[in-house]
Amino acid sequence: MLKKIDLPYPVNALEPYYSKETLMLHYDVLYTGYVDNTNKTQEKLDKARESNNFENIKCLEKDLSFFGSGAILHELFFENLGPAIPTSPDIKLMEQINKDFGSYDKFKEQFTSSAKVVEASGWNLLVWVPNFKKLEILQCEKHQNLTLWGCEPLLVLDMWEHSYYLQYKTKRDEYIKAFWNIVNWNVVNKRFSKI
Ligand SMILES: [Fe+2]
Repeated sequence: MLKKIDLPYPVNALEPYYSKETLMLHYDVLYTGYVDNTNKTQEKLDKARESNNFENIKCLEKDLSFFGSGAILHELFFENLGPAIPTSPDIKLMEQINKDFGSYDKFKEQFTSSAKVVEASGWNLLVWVPNFKKLEILQCEKHQNLTLWGCEPLLVLDMWEHSYYLQYKTKRDEYIKAFWNIVNWNVVNKRFSKI
């Protein structure tokens, strides 16, 4: 059974860049829904296997992918945020960023540009692609689309409207700009060090 992660900081710790109200709505309602529905889908799959009735398997597999991906990406997103205390990529990650993007500024420019044009409901991610042995930036639509098999999410930005609309309304630029103040690179570094 999938368990919700605890927020690694108090609910007001990301203010003023990410309000307490926005974080509570995001964590308590949206994220909880993904985790609960992942568990419900897995229970339905258990029953389908027990009864050998796979009549609804297509719907169940889609639900597993949708709710499961939503749960995982939210976990990564909440964990790679933190209070606005300056952190930065460590030497290993910075070397890889410089190698694959030319410089940190170029990486940030590409990440920001890409996040701005994520269509409607989606994500923007810095990932490690083992098959390419390279960092890439990916857009992910509806949790499941526009991704690469086997990629390792390192830095995740939620671009679903529920993530920012309460505080930033249509000003996506300001939300993305604020995001950079609350990234916890220590966590991103740790993820990258495991690769
Ligand atoms: Fe979200």
